[in-house]
Amino acid sequence: MNRRNFVLSSAAAAHVALAQSANDQVPTAMIGIGNRGSYLLKAVMSQPDARVVALCDNKPDRLDKAATAAARDNPSTTTDWRKVIDRKDVEAVYIATPPYLHAEMAIAALQAGKHVYCEKPVGTTAAQVRDLLKAAKQSNRVFVAGQQMRTMIQLGTAVRKIQEGAIGDILFVKAQRHASADLSYDGTSGDWYFDFKKSGGYLVEQSVHNLDACNWVIGQHPIRAAGFGGINLFKNTPEGRDIMDHQSLTYEYANGVKLSFTQMVFHPRRMPVGNQTISVYGSKGAVELLYSTNFYPLDATAAQTVLAEKVQEDGDAHIRAFYDCVRQGAKSPADVTVGATAALTAILGNEVCRQGKVIEWKDLGVDV
Ligand SMILES: NC(=O)c1ccc[n+]([C@@H]2O[C@H](COP(=O)([O-])OP(=O)(O)OC[C@H]3O[C@@H](n4cnc5c(N)ncnc54)[C@H](O)[C@@H]3O)[C@@H](O)[C@H]2O)c1
Repeated sequence: MNRRNFVLSSAAAAHVALAQSANDQVPTAMIGIGNRGSYLLKAVMSQPDARVVALCDNKPDRLDKAATAAARDNPSTTTDWRKVIDRKDVEAVYIATPPYLHAEMAIAALQAGKHVYCEKPVGTTAAQVRDLLKAAKQSNRVFVAGQQMRTMIQLGTAVRKIQEGAIGDILFVKAQRHASADLSYDGTSGDWYFDFKKSGGYLVEQSVHNLDACNWVIGQHPIRAAGFGGINLFKNTPEGRDIMDHQSLTYEYANGVKLSFTQMVFHPRRMPVGNQTISVYGSKGAVELLYSTNFYPLDATAAQTVLAEKVQEDGDAHIRAFYDCVRQGAKSPADVTVGATAALTAILGNEVCRQGKVIEWKDLGVDV
């Protein structure tokens, strides 16, 4: 082979290799590119087996910013999310719009044959969650809910050890998600977060992570709940606000375990008790699940141990897991049942506060 042919065929081979790898990449669309969507976009761009082919946000300035961030992949842009779902070449869709839109968008995407990564909460009402569950179970597509605590290695190890009996029988869980302030009133989500119908409030929009971790470690969903909540500090702030600034809830599980859960947005930052905690009490002792995984035996003479060593967590592990599901057939780290159960647990917590009575899980009318 002469040099010219060699150079040409090497270039051609390299081109074919590139084309093949581009073909192997999952053509991905992003719907909702605000705060979370921008983070997801960056994480998707860093996955070797993903290519961003379409961007959608109904705010043109955010769309422009995202198009610049994704310029390497030269995606198309639109303010109409249905156009993204209609595109035959799109294989995977990320949904990071305000919570009340998730179920409708995810159902449409699944029915169009797309794999879906849907931010939490997967729905803000029991009816939305029921419809999404049905659509996801009828499709043979991957569904990953953005409940990314499920891909945290240290937490996962501790949960597994607890389920293997490391703390005896689980008896009681005490958990909280406290913040030191409201979300910013003029931040990216300020136009929907304080509207209960759009966000589901702090419990559904944020504590859904913590409630999911509680369900995970207990190994089931609650069967009923009771509780109170209201607005004690941020009355009509911002104007028209109808989401609670504190809630105190008790959930009961079929195995007799109780979960005592509080949330508030006035927990001083420097107060020694951490903002987010999950303490799991078992017949052999208790464990601080969220950070240290320290185990404190009931027997005062027994040594304290650590259930799971701290590891360097990969912040993009959940996004990575999505592509492993799509391309390698891996199991979803947070499938539709996980996402639905977490959302319903939070929705139940809101309902008991709003209706002022004990409500049974079965009264939500959703079979998970
Ligand atoms: N998993 C996590 O840790 C995590 C963290 C933050 C936010 N989130 C979730 O991500 C979602 C978005 O939160 P955020 O903080 O990014 O909010 P955001 O307001 O910053 O972003 C939402 C984006 O959706 C766009 N949008 C609204 N309606 C639309 C429509 N009809 N069509 C297309 N785009 C539309 C908005 O213009 C906005 O850019 C929420 O569900 C939130 O709970 C998850």
